[in-house]
Amino acid sequence: MTSAVENELLTRVGPGTPMGNFMRQFWVPAIMSSELVPDAAPTRLMILGEKLIAFRDTHGNVGIFDHRCPHRCASLFFARNEEGGLRCAYHGWKFDATGQCTDMPNVPPRLEFSAKVKAKAYPAVERGGLIYIYMGDRKTLPPLPEIEPTLCPADDTMVICRQRECNWLQAMEGDLDTSHFGFLHGGLVEAADLDPATMDRFQVKYRAPEYYVKETEWGTMYAAHRPAEADETYYRFAQFVLPFWTLYPNGALTHNIAGNIWVPMDDSHTMVFNVGWKQRVAPLAYFKDGAPIPGLERRAEYLPNTNDWFGRWRSAVNQDNDYMIDRDIQRDKSFTGISGVTHQDMAVTESMGDIVDRTMEHLAVSDRMIMITRQRLLDAVTAYAKDGTLPAMLDRPAVARYARGGDAIAPKSQDWLEVYDQNMSRAEGPLGKANAAE
Ligand code: FES
Ligand SMILES: [Fe+2]
Repeated sequence: MTSAVENELLTRVGPGTPMGNFMRQFWVPAIMSSELVPDAAPTRLMILGEKLIAFRDTHGNVGIFDHRCPHRCASLFFARNEEGGLRCAYHGWKFDATGQCTDMPNVPPRLEFSAKVKAKAYPAVERGGLIYIYMGDRKTLPPLPEIEPTLCPADDTMVICRQRECNWLQAMEGDLDTSHFGFLHGGLVEAADLDPATMDRFQVKYRAPEYYVKETEWGTMYAAHRPAEADETYYRFAQFVLPFWTLYPNGALTHNIAGNIWVPMDDSHTMVFNVGWKQRVAPLAYFKDGAPIPGLERRAEYLPNTNDWFGRWRSAVNQDNDYMIDRDIQRDKSFTGISGVTHQDMAVTESMGDIVDRTMEHLAVSDRMIMITRQRLLDAVTAYAKDGTLPAMLDRPAVARYARGGDAIAPKSQDWLEVYDQNMSRAEGPLGKANAAE
């Protein structure tokens, strides 16, 4: 069971908290590249409980700062983004993308000290359509993470954002809990409804899978397993990568390059970056006669973005409208009566409250991946708080290239890790064989 003290350790991410300190040692995906346009108005960002301002200057450089101007703390949200930097609206001090003050126009030239003033800016790097920031205290920055869906060429990478109105951990744990698929998403779906050419049908045929779990160098992994055809086993592999990444099964392990990054905005809001290789073979299983099977629809409808700290990528189907639940449809067509797989996930994780009280839980064998992942996180956070020890993968990120989620079918007699290795040896994708273990 997770104690109240452990729950606090796992969920609080603000400055000075143990988990907040730990997460700051990693590169954090902050915003999509496409959201920042040269010389456009600055954008409010909330990350790990910090209010930040993001902008792109005339030359395309990205700046991400504490929103308070280092002069007298007026918010740089009101700044002008002009000619290579942000100019504060209060007294006109100007800052380049690194945070360096370059102009102090309200001070007589002989008394100005712009060279000595720097905004609290975080190093920012762009790759594959994402902008990452480093909020930690290392002088020498760690290498960028090497997690497969973010290593595809930018043109070939899909990035979708959606905000979740709850703590990051309970949102993320949904990806580590495969047995919910056969209820929340597919509770009224029969195996015969699904395309016989796909493996997904075994998920609804056997709704109580058994599990293998394992700690890995990059985090944790599991395989849920169920009987397939005679003498065969159906596996669903998924991965957790420190500190907040999941690689989930949504297609054959050999082709499925997809993941979620659960970036805490603060303790009760999460920005989910869904990343994937555009060319991966999309599962066809969820359509029948050309129409989505009720309960398995893919939908994403957004409210218009606003300037609020929590104003970006909010779902139009949300807790204020009970996720548009339709009780008639729930009676006999879909298990939840909620349309859209993501909306269903949102409904259950957000309904737990801002931060779920884990002392009330009764975990079952179906929660084994959740249990070892919490422990992996607790061990990592405690080690860092004690003497600054960090996981080796932070400086050797290539080990995580071997992490992938996906389905496989193998003879009953084969060991689950052998099944993983064998499928990964045939893995397809932009990395080709480069994602083989070191
Ligand atoms: S507060 Fe920004 S220039 Fe004075
Ligand atoms: Fe789900």
